[in-house]
Amino acid sequence: MRNLDHVPAIEIKGLHVSFDGNTVLEDINLTVEQGDYLGIIGPNGGGKSTLLRSLLGLITPDRGTIKILGHPAEDNHQQVSYVPQHTLFDRHFPIRVGEMVLMGRLGKRKGRCYSREDRRIADQALQRVGMDHIRERQIGELSGGERQRVLVARALTMEPSILLLDEPTASVDPGFQVTFYELLAELNESMTIVLVSHDISAVSRYVKNLACLNRRLYYSGGKEITADIVEEMYHCPVDLIAHGIPHRVLPSHEGVVGH
Ligand SMILES: Nc1ncnc2c1ncn2[C@@H]1O[C@H](COP(=O)(O)OP(=O)(O)O)[C@@H](O)[C@H]1O
Ligand SMILES: [Mg+2]
Repeated sequence: MRNLDHVPAIEIKGLHVSFDGNTVLEDINLTVEQGDYLGIIGPNGGGKSTLLRSLLGLITPDRGTIKILGHPAEDNHQQVSYVPQHTLFDRHFPIRVGEMVLMGRLGKRKGRCYSREDRRIADQALQRVGMDHIRERQIGELSGGERQRVLVARALTMEPSILLLDEPTASVDPGFQVTFYELLAELNESMTIVLVSHDISAVSRYVKNLACLNRRLYYSGGKEITADIVEEMYHCPVDLIAHGIPHRVLPSHEGVVGH
């Protein structure tokens, strides 16, 4: 982690984003300290992906500021790396895992070809996610869980201080989700993580702090989210979504009806 001890990893003030006159993010204020592991949950269409894309400097807000380690988001792509919700590549495109991960170096590459250093960093990233043994496999042959790890490796080749993940376990078998979250916990020892998901029960177990987003952001620090906020956000009774959530998240709630 870079030596910028007292600067927040992320600082959002008064952020408004709209598309074609429809407000998607309204007055978002959020500070994420370095080393944090923040989960942001919220219903589909609530603006989670838009918020992450704003952090990457890919969206021009109507109002407000976003700072990444003290600098405007649009200047700072190299500090932040991203595992997108929907990858744009064709899964059947013939490309091997090793090459795919190496492509993460495109933003950092100095000459026309990848350097030995680029290859070393890509190899290291694959090792870090435990996928170096499948370097030669075609992307199309991977399971959902393997593919997500490879995408994390690709993001790591940017050597980011901040890692953003958008619904990373949506296509991962439940059996492999735990190990995927263990990987994220390991990575969190050396970088700030922001993870967005509509899956409250999965995410709330693993993150350090938890916020809710549905156009507005509800966050008071910690993992406590009141039943009122959840009901307001999801427009359904809490007991429909509370199954499996640690009692810390919904302290007064006992219901266990499946989502
Ligand atoms: N580029 C865009 N142009 C127009 N509307 C968009 C665009 N991106 C997102 N939206 C709209 O913004 C809202 C929030 O979307 P999104 O951020 O993807 O939510 P989430 O990730 O929480 O499901 C949705 O209504 C979506 O249709
Ligand atoms: Mg999304």
